[in-house]
Amino acid sequence: MRLLLFLQACFSISFAFKILVYNSKYAHSHSNFIGSVADILVEAGHNVTSLIPVLDVDGKDGTTKSNKIYLDLGEKVHQALHDSIGKHDMFFYTPYFDPVGTYMGGKAMGEMFESACAETLKNEELIERLREEKYDVMMAESFDMCGLGSYMLKFDVHSMYDRALNLISEFLIRWFFYPGRWKVEALFKQKYGKDFPDFKEISSNVAYVFANSEPLMEFGAPTMSRVIAIGGLGAKEPKKLDEYWEGVMTKRSKVVLISFGSVAPSEELADDKKQSILKTVAAFPSMTFIWKYENPEDEFALAAKKAHPNLILSKWTPQHDLLNHPNMAAFISHGGMGSCMEVAQRAIPGLFIPLFGDQPKNAWAMEYNGLAKVISKFDLVRPEVLIVNLREIIENKKYRENGKRLSKMLARKPFSSRDLLIKYTEFAAEFGPSSALRPQSCDMSFIEYHNLDIIVAFLIFGVVAISILVAITAKIAKRCLRRDSVKEKRS
Ligand SMILES: *[C@@H]1O[C@H](CO)[C@@H](O)[C@H](O)[C@H]1NC(C)=O
Repeated sequence: MRLLLFLQACFSISFAFKILVYNSKYAHSHSNFIGSVADILVEAGHNVTSLIPVLDVDGKDGTTKSNKIYLDLGEKVHQALHDSIGKHDMFFYTPYFDPVGTYMGGKAMGEMFESACAETLKNEELIERLREEKYDVMMAESFDMCGLGSYMLKFDVHSMYDRALNLISEFLIRWFFYPGRWKVEALFKQKYGKDFPDFKEISSNVAYVFANSEPLMEFGAPTMSRVIAIGGLGAKEPKKLDEYWEGVMTKRSKVVLISFGSVAPSEELADDKKQSILKTVAAFPSMTFIWKYENPEDEFALAAKKAHPNLILSKWTPQHDLLNHPNMAAFISHGGMGSCMEVAQRAIPGLFIPLFGDQPKNAWAMEYNGLAKVISKFDLVRPEVLIVNLREIIENKKYRENGKRLSKMLARKPFSSRDLLIKYTEFAAEFGPSSALRPQSCDMSFIEYHNLDIIVAFLIFGVVAISILVAITAKIAKRCLRRDSVKEKRS
C-alpha cells in the first residue's frame, strides 16, 4: 500500500500545518494504517483532518485523534463493496495466479471505487469547503501498485519460470487496477474538463510516497529516492493480559495462535479444512491452541471444543498481547502485513498460509528471512503438512533466534518510521515537491523505458554486420577455392 502526498500551492508559515488525510473506509487494515498516520501527525502538533468516505459501514477508520469528516455514500456504494468482495470464503480456494479472477476482481473493485467517487464528487458544498481550507499537505492512498508482484509465488531469481511468472504478475496487477483507475479518472474529466490531469501525471508530481513496508523484512529491491518506507506504524504496544487470557496462556507451557485476519473468516472455511486444523490440534496435546473463530457457538465449534480440551475458540483475541506472552510458541496466520510485523517484533515463529493480495509476497519474504514457514492454502486440507511445518518452526531454534535478531534491529533502527513520517511530512509542507525527486521515467514511453529502440538498433546493426561479414567471407573463400582449382588443373 502506498500513500501519496499531494501538495497545495499555498502553505502557512506557522509550525503547525493543516493536513488533510483521505481515508477511504473499505478495508480494516488499510484504514488502520492511514488512521495511524493521521494520529501520529496530530501527536506531532499538526491540525489533521481525516476525510472518510464510508464504503464499509461496519468498518473502523483507525483514527481517534484527528478531526473527521464522514461522507455517507449511500446504499448503492455499500452494495458495490459487498459485491466486490463476493463470498468471503473464496479467498481460501481461488488460485494464487489467476488472470480471469484477477480481472473480475479488479473490475468489481473498480466499479465500487467509481460509484464511491461519483457520490463524493456530487458533494459540491464539501469540495468547496475543502478548497477554502487551503491545506498545507494532502495525503491520499494510491491503491494502485499496492501489491506489486502480489501474485508472486515462491520466487527464485535463478528460475526462468519464476521470473516469467513475476513478469506476467506485473501485467496482471495493472490489469487489476487500471480499469478502476480509468473509470475514476473519467469522472474527474467529466466534471472538471478534459484538461484535468490524469492520475499518472498527478502522482508523478507528489512530494513523497510513503510505503507501508519494512525493508528489513522483505527482498532487497530497487526503489526511488522519494519513496519512504514507514512500515510498522500501526503496531500497538502490548498490554498485560487480563486474568482469563493469562489463565489460558499459562495452562500449558506452549501456546499456538491461529488467525486468518479480518477479511477471510474462519467460520466460512470448508469442512475438510476445518477438520485438518483439528487434526493438527490433536497432534499436539501438550500445547494450547487459540483459534480466532467468528462463531464459537456454532455446531462445528461446540463439537470441536468438546473433542479437544487443548483448543480455545474465540470470536476475538487480544492478539498483540497474546503474541507478547513468553509461552507463545507459534503463530499460524494468513501473512497480512500486520501479522508479519507482529511475528517479527515479538520474535514468534510464524506458519503462514497466504490467501490473496500482498499476503503471498509478505509470507515468502518472511520465510526467505528465516522467520517463518509458508504453506500453500491448497495444503490446508492436509494435516500432515500442517503438523510437519508446525513442528519444524517450534522445535528448530533457528526461527526464534532469527526473530529475536530482527526484533532487536527493528527496535533500534537508526530512524523510526514515526520520525520519518513526521519529518518528511513537515518538509513537504514547507518546500513542496522537488523536481529532483520526480523520476524521468514518468515521461518516457514504453519503448524508451525498456530501451526497445536501442535494442532494435543493435539488432539491425548486428544483422547487417554479420551479413556483410558472411558475404565477404564467402567471396574470399570462393576466390581461394577458384585459385586452388586453377592450380590443380595446371598441375
Ligand atoms: C484545525 O482546522 C480546522 C479547520 O480545518 C479549524 O476549524 C480548527 O479551528 C483548527 N484547529 C486548531 C486547533 O487550530
